[in-house]
Amino acid sequence: MKVTVVGAGAVGASCTEYIAIKNFASEVILLDIKEGFAEGKAMDLMQTASLMGFDTKITGITNDYSATAGSDIAVITSGIPRKPGMTREELIGINAGIVKSVASSLIAHSPNVILIVVSNPMDTMTYLVHKTTKLAKNKIIGMGGALDSARFKYRLAEALEAPISDVDGMVIGGHSDTGMVPLTSHATRNSIKVADFLSEERLDQVAEDTKVGGATLTKLLGTSAWYAPGAAVSSMVQAIACNQMKMFPCSTLLEGEYDLNDICIGVPVLLGKNGIEKIVNIPLSSAEKAKMQESADGVKKTNDLLAL
Ligand code: 2OP
Repeated sequence: MKVTVVGAGAVGASCTEYIAIKNFASEVILLDIKEGFAEGKAMDLMQTASLMGFDTKITGITNDYSATAGSDIAVITSGIPRKPGMTREELIGINAGIVKSVASSLIAHSPNVILIVVSNPMDTMTYLVHKTTKLAKNKIIGMGGALDSARFKYRLAEALEAPISDVDGMVIGGHSDTGMVPLTSHATRNSIKVADFLSEERLDQVAEDTKVGGATLTKLLGTSAWYAPGAAVSSMVQAIACNQMKMFPCSTLLEGEYDLNDICIGVPVLLGKNGIEKIVNIPLSSAEKAKMQESADGVKKTNDLLAL
């Protein structure tokens, strides 16, 4: 199993590290445009192998896509991260050109690759890859909901004063500060609905804290987060690589599902060896359906900036 990660910045390096430690991939190619940067990060990570107990071979490459040839899965993290006070959508001007070029370079050397898009604004970048490449739609996957759901579970556990392993919850919709839809009606603690433990006000606060989870960290860190994004990507890569048929909320092209068309936005999917194996239709309350439509309207507004 060969995986390529494009972008050796914080998110790309973290996702490479987690993939290596999970030891399911034989090889990870870490590629960056900055001379020597990916090589340095790869060598540093390889020097943890004996300590962390993995055999994954990590190779750093500077801007030579021939080294990515034959990749089964490729992760696009390249582009600029946001600064405090910025929205993800404001990155489109720079990141769209980068993502388009990276996707075509990856596909040229690995025609059957499954692409995971991380670069922001992620839903629009995922849509851009659909519109500018001939890759099958099950092979183009946007990572946002897996990260947002992890942040949702963190906030739920905090409110419940419970261990995170007791908690389950999912965030669908756009990966944006205003467009996320945390499914508080479905969230559970040990299979019991969290609404049985928390007031409506407290649950609303959990949902709001989840939606700005990225912005909260950007304010604290001065740049976008990287550990949880990297971990979210590595879980998706593992589900595909090991054909786990695991459910994740992922940004995928909708053609009528959830009453939405011609848009990439976060919905529950099953991830397996073919990438998106199935889009899963789950029951939504009328309020959740309305929030999903509102979220889609926001994503489409950003898509229009692509002027495709
Ligand atoms: C985040 O929410 C980078 O969009 C990513 O942290």
